[in-house]
Amino acid sequence: TYVVTEDCIACKHMDCVEVCPVDCFYEGENMLVINSDECIDCGVCEPECPIDAIKSDSESGLESWVELNRKYARLWPNIVEKGLPPANAKAMEGVPNKFRDLFS
Ligand code: SF4
Ligand code: F3S
Repeated sequence: TYVVTEDCIACKHMDCVEVCPVDCFYEGENMLVINSDECIDCGVCEPECPIDAIKSDSESGLESWVELNRKYARLWPNIVEKGLPPANAKAMEGVPNKFRDLFS
């Protein structure tokens, strides 16, 4: 399956939502997550994210993000249409420690 990772926080471009054939993205205040039970592993969303925040869970070191996507996909509402990214999305690209400082 695929997972949304730290770079998404406070950027939330939402191009990924537009292409997912099974609508398995879920929306938090400042990032999205993927529901791994619904994701069909098609990989279509990965290249759509302009900041490369979507990764395959076959990559190593993503355990905490796999867990976070699993947890919040149960708590957050489904999102099926791209909305407006945060006004400062561009400025927040690549900022370190976004999970610690900004996750909500
Ligand atoms: Fe949706 Fe495919 Fe991305 Fe899974 S890999 S979240 S099914 S677009
Ligand atoms: Fe986030 Fe990239 Fe989607 S920034 S909302 S994973 S397009």
